[in-house]
Amino acid sequence: MPDDSLKGASEHEPREEWRSRWGFLFAAVGSAVGLGNMWRFSYLASEKGGAGFVALYLLFTVVLGLPVLLAELTIGRGARRGPIAALAHYGGDAWRWLGAVFVAAGFLILSYYGVIGGWTLRYAFEAMSIGFASDAGAHFGDVASGFDSLGTQIVFMCLTVAVVSGGIGAGIERVARIAMPALFLIMIGIAVYAARLDGSGAGYAYYLNFDLEKALTIDVAVAAAGQAFFSLSLGMGAILTFASYLPRNSHLGRETVVISFADFGVAFVAGLMIFPLIFALGMQGEISGSTIGALFVALPKAFESMGFAGRIVGGAFFVALVVGALTSAISLLEVIVSASMDAFGWARRKAALLGGAGVTLAGAWSAFRIDLLDLADSLATNLFLVGGGLGITIFVGWVMDDPVAEARVGSGGSMIHGIWRVLLRFVVPIALIFILWNSLPETWGKVRAIFWPG
Ligand code: TRP
Repeated sequence: MPDDSLKGASEHEPREEWRSRWGFLFAAVGSAVGLGNMWRFSYLASEKGGAGFVALYLLFTVVLGLPVLLAELTIGRGARRGPIAALAHYGGDAWRWLGAVFVAAGFLILSYYGVIGGWTLRYAFEAMSIGFASDAGAHFGDVASGFDSLGTQIVFMCLTVAVVSGGIGAGIERVARIAMPALFLIMIGIAVYAARLDGSGAGYAYYLNFDLEKALTIDVAVAAAGQAFFSLSLGMGAILTFASYLPRNSHLGRETVVISFADFGVAFVAGLMIFPLIFALGMQGEISGSTIGALFVALPKAFESMGFAGRIVGGAFFVALVVGALTSAISLLEVIVSASMDAFGWARRKAALLGGAGVTLAGAWSAFRIDLLDLADSLATNLFLVGGGLGITIFVGWVMDDPVAEARVGSGGSMIHGIWRVLLRFVVPIALIFILWNSLPETWGKVRAIFWPG
């Protein structure tokens, strides 16, 4: 007889579970590792002055990311429900709205994430068939706008829906177990290759030379905190949802450390491949030209100038990017899917199809206008994720009954949990309120520039 607590809120079938600890870890790391680690990280690092940004991002990953990650794991595993029902389970019905904000955030992020995912698919295919275009800037313009962009977005979203329809063990876990090791191998291979190119030193210098003055601006801090949340998939219940399929004897503290260091490690190695490649091939001028497109312009240009080797290395690079994007998109869709399975009692397949279709439709704006994509990204990250992270922090720090006892299940007690509680009650919320407040002018500026230009 399955235990009653093993059932989801719909109570019809026993709740799905991960098949193994490694399956969960690959899926969670797959959620964390994605476009955020490569596309977003590299354009922010170059826009915000390199190493100073990287250092702040690491600091925020540890001080803000780790505690919130453990908080999400604790709620998810404890409640064994999707985000909305999980918050209601521990906090009462009034907290449903926070879960609803999570689902809305997932919707917003996946709407443009799928668009960029489509671009990566297109570049991967082209690398393996016709090669990289000689005019990389113009080519990116074609790929990233109009029906080209919409078409690849639809293909990418169909893949995402297909995997999520397969369920936790047979869909998400199976894909992540193959995809993530492949991604790690490709990245390390390319980083080693880049290190051996003449002139790569300037890339490392740019990436790793620390300039304290540049790092200590509010603007860089806001961007680094947003990136820490985005990259770890925090602040909207994605990790919470994955944790809801965990068995009770899992060791949450250990998983927290593995996930966050794997995620930071991948972002760091991404920088070790991207910047040396770009500088060794003399493409640094392209980075500043277009921030969002930096990765899709400077790197293809570098690959193109490398001839045949560029097609191999570049093809592998974009395949890794597709893999990362797909395993992250899966986790975003899973939030929407698990919430609608809980709320409406839908079957998984139906929830995945309808959710995927809705997200694709909503993302069509971003497929046609890159400034709307940029706006959606700022709103989602700086407002929804940082705000959602604040919500989770307050919830676990102040509302939930004895979160430490729940987090300890499966791992035994340690002093760390006491520190965790203090961080969640005082340090993290104060830091997040500060960051949220200071991000408002920039986000508002973007809204104004689009809706009331001039
Ligand atoms: N973390 C992923 C990346 O770095 C993106 C992502 C997946 C995400 N799920 C999320 C971001 C949930 C925020 C919330 O590309």
